[in-house]
Amino acid sequence: MLEFDPLAALSEEHTSLTQLFARHQEALVTRAWARAARLLDSYQRRLLHHIGLEERYLLPCCPTQKLAGQWPASVYAAEHRRIEDLLQRQITRLAKARRHGVSTTRLIALLDEEKTLKHLVEHHHEREDLALFVTARQALPENARLQFTRELMSAGIATMVASR
Ligand SMILES: [Fe+2]
Ligand SMILES: [Fe+2]
Repeated sequence: MLEFDPLAALSEEHTSLTQLFARHQEALVTRAWARAARLLDSYQRRLLHHIGLEERYLLPCCPTQKLAGQWPASVYAAEHRRIEDLLQRQITRLAKARRHGVSTTRLIALLDEEKTLKHLVEHHHEREDLALFVTARQALPENARLQFTRELMSAGIATMVASR
């Protein structure tokens, strides 16, 4: 039977977010500054929306304390705040660099700064795929699942995937 799986859709979005960030970095290294900035803005918009959905629908499913293979909501929320902060800083740095002219040294510094953000996001997505989404798949109440699905569909994130 074919059924919409909101957790699979969110997990697929991790992959498209990673691809979007890679396109931004490709634009950076080819010195296509306007494109790099546009792609980073669009990455921020999509990531904030993604985080908003997780915080509204999935974090309430988390245990209040650390359990084997599961983390409390506070761990995910703290990672979200750190990711948002690093991303906003990077957007500001890129805008500043563009205003002053991007030297090769500055470009290398920008890429180095993005490495921290990239690793944090990769680690965060991995933790969610292996723990949060597994927990939420079992614990998400039916009414929340329906509302969550509606939001994913209206944001164009929905895809049909085969359920078990
Ligand atoms: Fe997240
Ligand atoms: Fe996520």
